Amino acid sequence: MNPKLLTVTPELSERTAVKTAAALALLRHVAQNYSPAVFANSLGAEDMVLTDLICKNQLPIEIFSLDTGRLPSETYDLMAELDRHYGLKLKIYYPQAEPLERYVRQHGINAFYDSVDLRKACCHLRKVEPLQRALSGQRAWITGMRAEQAATRGQLAQQTYDESNALEKFNPLADWSEQEVWAYLKTHAVPYNPLHEAFYPSIGCAPCTRAISPGEDIRAGRWWWENPQTKECGLHIKRGGT
Ligand code: ADX
Ligand code: SF4
Repeated sequence: MNPKLLTVTPELSERTAVKTAAALALLRHVAQNYSPAVFANSLGAEDMVLTDLICKNQLPIEIFSLDTGRLPSETYDLMAELDRHYGLKLKIYYPQAEPLERYVRQHGINAFYDSVDLRKACCHLRKVEPLQRALSGQRAWITGMRAEQAATRGQLAQQTYDESNALEKFNPLADWSEQEVWAYLKTHAVPYNPLHEAFYPSIGCAPCTRAISPGEDIRAGRWWWENPQTKECGLHIKRGGT
Protein backbone atom coordinates (compact mmCIF):
# COMPACT_ATOMS: atom_id res chain seq x y z
CA MET A 1 0.00 0.00 0.00
CA ASN A 2 1.25 3.47 -0.78
CA PRO A 3 0.74 5.31 2.52
CA LYS A 4 0.30 8.59 0.66
CA LEU A 5 -2.85 7.27 -1.01
CA LEU A 6 -4.56 5.99 2.15
CA THR A 7 -7.73 7.80 3.17
CA VAL A 8 -8.48 7.46 6.86
CA THR A 9 -12.26 7.01 6.84
CA PRO A 10 -14.23 7.46 10.09
CA GLU A 11 -14.73 3.67 10.20
CA LEU A 12 -10.99 2.98 9.84
CA SER A 13 -10.19 5.67 12.35
CA GLU A 14 -12.59 4.15 14.89
CA ARG A 15 -11.24 0.62 14.38
CA THR A 16 -7.67 1.86 14.72
CA ALA A 17 -8.50 3.75 17.91
CA VAL A 18 -9.94 0.58 19.47
CA LYS A 19 -6.84 -1.43 18.54
CA THR A 20 -4.57 1.37 19.74
CA ALA A 21 -6.22 1.33 23.17
CA ALA A 22 -5.68 -2.45 23.36
CA ALA A 23 -2.03 -2.23 22.24
CA LEU A 24 -1.33 0.52 24.76
CA ALA A 25 -2.99 -1.50 27.54
CA LEU A 26 -0.80 -4.48 26.65
CA LEU A 27 2.36 -2.31 26.64
CA ARG A 28 1.44 -0.94 30.07
CA HIS A 29 0.82 -4.48 31.33
CA VAL A 30 4.25 -5.58 30.06
CA ALA A 31 5.97 -2.55 31.61
CA GLN A 32 4.28 -3.21 34.95
CA ASN A 33 4.51 -6.97 35.18
CA TYR A 34 7.51 -8.02 33.09
CA SER A 35 10.14 -5.47 33.94
CA PRO A 36 12.81 -5.25 32.64
CA ALA A 37 11.21 -5.39 29.18
CA VAL A 38 12.67 -4.22 25.89
CA PHE A 39 11.28 -3.32 22.47
CA ALA A 40 13.16 -4.54 19.37
CA ASN A 41 12.85 -1.68 16.91
CA SER A 42 13.64 -2.20 13.22
CA LEU A 43 12.11 1.23 12.42
CA GLY A 44 9.63 -0.36 10.01
CA ALA A 45 6.07 1.06 9.89
CA GLU A 46 4.73 -1.26 12.62
CA ASP A 47 7.68 -0.48 14.87
CA MET A 48 7.05 3.24 14.45
CA VAL A 49 3.55 2.73 15.91
CA LEU A 50 5.08 1.08 18.98
CA THR A 51 7.84 3.68 19.21
CA ASP A 52 5.23 6.43 19.23
CA LEU A 53 3.13 4.68 21.91
CA ILE A 54 6.12 3.95 24.16
CA CYS A 55 7.71 7.39 23.82
CA LYS A 56 4.55 9.50 24.11
CA ASN A 57 3.37 7.55 27.16
CA GLN A 58 6.88 7.47 28.65
CA LEU A 59 6.64 3.75 29.30
CA PRO A 60 9.67 2.26 31.08
CA ILE A 61 10.57 -0.02 28.17
CA GLU A 62 14.04 0.24 26.68
CA ILE A 63 14.13 0.53 22.89
CA PHE A 64 16.95 -1.09 20.95
CA SER A 65 17.92 -1.68 17.31
CA LEU A 66 20.20 -4.21 15.70
CA ASP A 67 22.49 -2.41 13.28
CA THR A 68 23.59 -5.12 10.88
CA GLY A 69 25.95 -2.76 9.08
CA ARG A 70 23.95 -3.30 5.87
CA LEU A 71 20.84 -1.21 6.56
CA PRO A 72 19.58 1.28 3.94
CA SER A 73 20.72 4.88 4.49
CA GLU A 74 17.05 5.89 4.93
CA THR A 75 16.89 3.70 8.06
CA TYR A 76 19.92 5.44 9.58
CA ASP A 77 18.33 8.82 8.78
CA LEU A 78 15.18 7.71 10.59
CA MET A 79 17.24 6.67 13.63
CA ALA A 80 18.60 10.23 13.75
CA GLU A 81 15.07 11.59 13.30
CA LEU A 82 13.88 9.59 16.34
CA ASP A 83 16.33 11.51 18.48
CA ARG A 84 15.10 14.86 17.11
CA HIS A 85 11.40 13.96 17.27
CA TYR A 86 11.19 12.08 20.59
CA GLY A 87 14.58 12.71 22.19
CA LEU A 88 14.98 8.93 21.88
CA LYS A 89 18.50 7.56 22.30
CA LEU A 90 18.15 4.17 20.66
CA LYS A 91 20.36 1.51 22.17
CA ILE A 92 22.17 0.06 19.18
CA TYR A 93 23.77 -3.38 19.04
CA TYR A 94 26.45 -4.30 16.51
CA PRO A 95 27.70 -7.66 15.26
CA GLN A 96 30.89 -8.97 16.80
CA ALA A 97 33.76 -7.96 14.54
CA GLU A 98 35.94 -11.06 14.50
CA PRO A 99 33.47 -13.77 13.47
CA LEU A 100 32.00 -11.41 10.87
CA GLU A 101 35.42 -10.61 9.46
CA ARG A 102 36.14 -14.35 9.22
CA TYR A 103 32.83 -15.02 7.45
CA VAL A 104 33.37 -12.25 4.90
CA ARG A 105 36.99 -13.27 4.26
CA GLN A 106 35.94 -16.88 3.70
CA HIS A 107 32.68 -16.44 1.78
CA GLY A 108 32.72 -12.94 0.29
CA ILE A 109 31.04 -9.63 1.00
CA ASN A 110 27.69 -10.59 -0.59
CA ALA A 111 27.73 -14.32 0.23
CA PHE A 112 24.06 -14.25 1.30
CA TYR A 113 23.06 -14.53 -2.36
CA ASP A 114 24.99 -17.80 -2.79
CA SER A 115 22.90 -20.18 -0.63
CA VAL A 116 20.19 -20.25 2.05
CA ASP A 117 22.79 -21.55 4.52
CA LEU A 118 25.16 -18.66 3.88
CA ARG A 119 22.24 -16.22 4.07
CA LYS A 120 21.17 -17.67 7.41
CA ALA A 121 24.77 -17.57 8.66
CA CYS A 122 24.95 -13.87 7.77
CA CYS A 123 21.65 -13.20 9.57
CA HIS A 124 22.97 -15.13 12.55
CA LEU A 125 26.14 -13.05 12.79
CA ARG A 126 24.53 -9.71 12.06
CA LYS A 127 21.15 -10.08 13.84
CA VAL A 128 20.62 -13.20 15.92
CA GLU A 129 23.76 -13.11 18.06
CA PRO A 130 23.37 -9.36 18.76
CA LEU A 131 19.68 -10.03 19.60
CA GLN A 132 20.74 -12.66 22.13
CA ARG A 133 22.93 -10.07 23.86
CA ALA A 134 20.12 -7.51 23.75
CA LEU A 135 17.70 -9.96 25.40
CA SER A 136 20.01 -11.31 28.05
CA GLY A 137 18.82 -10.39 31.54
CA GLN A 138 15.39 -9.24 30.28
CA ARG A 139 12.03 -10.68 31.33
CA ALA A 140 10.18 -9.86 28.11
CA TRP A 141 10.65 -8.46 24.66
CA ILE A 142 8.24 -6.70 22.36
CA THR A 143 8.11 -6.82 18.56
CA GLY A 144 6.06 -5.17 15.83
CA MET A 145 5.15 -8.44 14.12
CA ARG A 146 1.70 -8.91 12.58
CA ALA A 147 0.00 -12.20 11.70
CA GLU A 148 -0.89 -10.97 8.21
CA GLN A 149 2.72 -10.19 7.33
CA ALA A 150 3.84 -13.59 6.12
CA ALA A 151 3.13 -17.24 5.47
CA THR A 152 5.37 -17.99 8.45
CA ARG A 153 3.39 -15.73 10.83
CA GLY A 154 -0.23 -16.89 10.39
CA GLN A 155 -0.63 -18.22 13.94
CA LEU A 156 1.05 -15.27 15.63
CA ALA A 157 -0.27 -14.61 19.16
CA GLN A 158 -0.07 -11.41 21.19
CA GLN A 159 1.81 -13.21 23.94
CA THR A 160 3.96 -16.29 23.74
CA TYR A 161 6.92 -17.84 25.50
CA ASP A 162 10.07 -17.50 23.40
CA GLU A 163 11.85 -20.76 24.07
CA SER A 164 14.92 -19.92 21.99
CA ASN A 165 15.68 -16.86 24.09
CA ALA A 166 13.97 -18.05 27.30
CA LEU A 167 11.75 -15.06 27.97
CA GLU A 168 8.23 -13.83 27.32
CA LYS A 169 7.53 -12.30 23.89
CA PHE A 170 4.77 -9.79 23.15
CA ASN A 171 3.41 -8.81 19.73
CA PRO A 172 0.93 -5.99 20.50
CA LEU A 173 0.13 -5.48 16.80
CA ALA A 174 -0.43 -9.19 16.05
CA ASP A 175 -4.03 -8.60 14.88
CA TRP A 176 -3.46 -5.24 13.16
CA SER A 177 -3.97 -4.81 9.41
CA GLU A 178 -1.57 -2.83 7.24
CA GLN A 179 -4.29 -0.17 6.83
CA GLU A 180 -4.63 0.24 10.59
CA VAL A 181 -0.85 0.68 10.94
CA TRP A 182 -0.89 3.47 8.36
CA ALA A 183 -4.04 5.03 9.80
CA TYR A 184 -2.22 5.30 13.13
CA LEU A 185 0.94 6.78 11.61
CA LYS A 186 -1.00 9.36 9.62
CA THR A 187 -3.38 10.34 12.42
CA HIS A 188 -0.52 10.88 14.87
CA ALA A 189 1.92 12.41 12.32
CA VAL A 190 4.56 9.82 13.17
CA PRO A 191 7.82 9.95 11.16
CA TYR A 192 8.44 6.93 8.95
CA ASN A 193 10.91 5.51 6.47
CA PRO A 194 10.41 7.16 3.04
CA LEU A 195 11.14 3.79 1.41
CA HIS A 196 7.58 2.80 2.38
CA GLU A 197 6.36 5.30 -0.23
CA ALA A 198 8.51 3.61 -2.87
CA PHE A 199 6.81 0.18 -2.62
CA TYR A 200 8.91 -1.19 0.24
CA PRO A 201 6.27 -2.41 2.75
CA SER A 202 8.88 -4.48 4.64
CA ILE A 203 12.39 -3.10 5.13
CA GLY A 204 15.42 -5.03 6.29
CA CYS A 205 19.04 -4.94 5.12
CA ALA A 206 19.59 -3.05 1.84
CA PRO A 207 21.02 -5.94 -0.20
CA CYS A 208 18.23 -8.30 0.93
CA THR A 209 15.24 -5.98 0.43
CA ARG A 210 13.72 -4.69 -2.77
CA ALA A 211 10.55 -2.94 -3.89
CA ILE A 212 7.47 -5.06 -4.65
CA SER A 213 4.99 -4.81 -7.52
CA PRO A 214 1.30 -4.00 -6.92
CA GLY A 215 -0.53 -7.13 -5.74
CA GLU A 216 2.61 -8.92 -4.54
CA ASP A 217 2.84 -10.31 -1.00
CA ILE A 218 4.14 -7.67 1.44
CA ARG A 219 7.25 -9.66 2.23
CA ALA A 220 7.91 -10.53 -1.42
CA GLY A 221 10.73 -7.97 -1.46
CA ARG A 222 12.63 -9.64 1.41
CA TRP A 223 15.15 -12.35 0.33
CA TRP A 224 13.16 -12.42 -2.91
CA TRP A 225 15.30 -15.18 -4.35
CA GLU A 226 14.21 -17.65 -1.61
CA ASN A 227 11.11 -19.79 -1.02
CA PRO A 228 8.49 -18.00 1.22
CA GLN A 229 8.81 -20.75 3.86
CA THR A 230 12.51 -19.99 4.48
CA LYS A 231 12.05 -16.24 4.72
CA GLU A 232 12.76 -15.68 8.39
CA CYS A 233 16.10 -14.42 9.56
CA GLY A 234 16.25 -16.35 12.83
CA LEU A 235 15.07 -13.51 15.06
CA HIS A 236 11.68 -15.18 15.29
CA ILE A 237 12.21 -18.93 15.37
CA LYS A 238 9.15 -21.05 15.99
CA ARG A 239 9.35 -24.03 18.30
CA GLY A 240 5.80 -25.24 18.71
CA GLY A 241 4.23 -21.82 18.09
CA THR A 242 5.46 -18.31 17.34
S1 ADX B 1 12.71 -10.14 10.00
O1 ADX B 1 12.76 -11.34 10.84
O2 ADX B 1 12.07 -10.38 8.70
O3 ADX B 1 13.95 -9.40 9.91
P1 ADX B 1 10.83 -8.06 10.28
O4 ADX B 1 11.63 -7.07 9.51
O5 ADX B 1 9.56 -8.57 9.69
O6 ADX B 1 11.74 -9.26 10.79
O7 ADX B 1 10.52 -7.45 11.70
C1 ADX B 1 9.77 -8.16 12.66
C2 ADX B 1 10.13 -7.62 14.02
O8 ADX B 1 11.45 -8.06 14.37
C3 ADX B 1 10.16 -6.12 14.09
O9 ADX B 1 8.89 -5.59 14.34
C4 ADX B 1 11.15 -5.90 15.22
O10 ADX B 1 10.49 -6.02 16.46
C5 ADX B 1 12.14 -7.04 15.06
N1 ADX B 1 13.30 -6.63 14.25
C6 ADX B 1 13.56 -6.94 12.96
N2 ADX B 1 14.72 -6.37 12.55
C7 ADX B 1 15.20 -5.69 13.62
C8 ADX B 1 16.35 -4.88 13.85
N3 ADX B 1 17.26 -4.66 12.91
N4 ADX B 1 16.51 -4.32 15.07
C9 ADX B 1 15.60 -4.54 16.05
N5 ADX B 1 14.51 -5.29 15.89
C10 ADX B 1 14.30 -5.86 14.70
FE1 SF4 C 1 22.92 -10.50 6.07
FE2 SF4 C 1 20.90 -10.05 4.36
FE3 SF4 C 1 20.47 -11.21 6.78
FE4 SF4 C 1 21.10 -8.60 6.56
S1 SF4 C 1 19.21 -9.63 5.83
S2 SF4 C 1 21.92 -10.01 8.04
S3 SF4 C 1 22.61 -8.65 4.87
S4 SF4 C 1 21.64 -12.03 5.02
